[in-house]
Amino acid sequence: MAKYEIIGGNPLNGQVVISGAKNAVVGILPATLLVQGKCRIENVPNISDVRILLDILRSMNAQFEWVDHSTLEIDTTGVKSCEPDSSLVTKLRASYYLMGALLGRFGKAHVALPGGCNFASRPIDQHIKGFLALGADVDETDEYIELSAGADGLQGARISLDVVSVGATINIMLAATLMPGQTIIENAAKEPHIVDLANFLNTMGARITGAGTDTVKIRGVKALKGGTYTVIPDQIEAGTYMAAAVATGGDVLVQNVIPKHLECITTRLREMGAKITEFDDSIRVQREGSLRRITVKTMPYPGFPTDMQAQICVCMSLANGISRLTESVYETRFFGYCSELESMGANIQINGKTASITGTDKLFGTTVRANDLRAGAALVIAGLAAEGTTYVENIHYVERGYERLIEKLTALGAQIRRIED
Ligand code: UD1
Repeated sequence: MAKYEIIGGNPLNGQVVISGAKNAVVGILPATLLVQGKCRIENVPNISDVRILLDILRSMNAQFEWVDHSTLEIDTTGVKSCEPDSSLVTKLRASYYLMGALLGRFGKAHVALPGGCNFASRPIDQHIKGFLALGADVDETDEYIELSAGADGLQGARISLDVVSVGATINIMLAATLMPGQTIIENAAKEPHIVDLANFLNTMGARITGAGTDTVKIRGVKALKGGTYTVIPDQIEAGTYMAAAVATGGDVLVQNVIPKHLECITTRLREMGAKITEFDDSIRVQREGSLRRITVKTMPYPGFPTDMQAQICVCMSLANGISRLTESVYETRFFGYCSELESMGANIQINGKTASITGTDKLFGTTVRANDLRAGAALVIAGLAAEGTTYVENIHYVERGYERLIEKLTALGAQIRRIED
């Protein structure tokens, strides 16, 4: 199995260009199933989650071509099946978006239950609640979900989510776009990638309003036509490089970002003592002195993202005093990386939803294991900041979501390489 070898201790310096948002594109690619004709999608990250989704769509008879390293042309007009290959679907968490997209296109779907990062129990009851409200019959087993039009047919409905769920919001939007009538999602998630999906669908002819607020309205349309769309930059990839700059004591210009999407991260890093300068589409992160302890609680957007929990924990591990980090989205997420960070010298005590992190002057290189995507990213940051050599194993998780990680970090002065065992 491949791993990363990182010789730590070099502050990151220079510029890095952020790729398109993973969590947006994994919604937009299934959304192309609703479009008749060719979609040209720009700023697509070439990461393994995207490649798996494309494999799934190809196996269903979609045609696609990479026009350049980040531009994809895709035409799903020839797709006839509403049953994607389960051996591919189970490799990917976001494959659950095929449920909403196929229900929207064909009025039925048979989709295996998703795989991906299992850092917590990740129920999909809110997705199912949405499909039922839209008039679907739902047959759920331990292995798959089968959706079909119920006796009264499929049509728009008012759905109030019991928990703020990104996945359920997106799946209901996908299912409802081509349905007759109006769908209203209350208590919707507000993440930037929800707005991006709505913008993509509207560009192709959908009528969606309110994305980015807690009430999303979808007026069903008869058909969507092809067009061109540019995916937003990845909030979490940007946040990861920002945290890496802070942890290593560097000076990094993070380019191709939307600073507004990063405010929740910027605020916390400033509180720690980092100097952050915002420009129109880039952000400069500098750290000179020591870091101060902070308190962070993860929350749905616009709060501090759970997907940045592990990376900020590395910064806290290097701050003066005791920082507190509370997880309110996925309680068990600490278990993916805290023991690995402790083996590098971090001092972390977990008590239920809250971790208390007593800062230390130095982390030390050793062999650690990535247990999920963001945990892996945090261990890479820890390795970059640590004294000595760190080996990060299980890197297929990291490669799910970070495009050209080695290349980008090397350009910033990191000593990191991928080695095959
Ligand atoms: C998405 C992101 C993931 C991020 C998470 C939270 C994608 C592809 N993935 O995951 O990177 O960590 O948002 O920001 O965008 N819940 C239920 N029932 C449901 C659905 C969710 O109880 O039907 C709960 C979850 O257990 C969790 C919370 O709601 O506690 C939020 O989950 P959700 O926003 O749905 O996360 P994902 O869409 O899976």
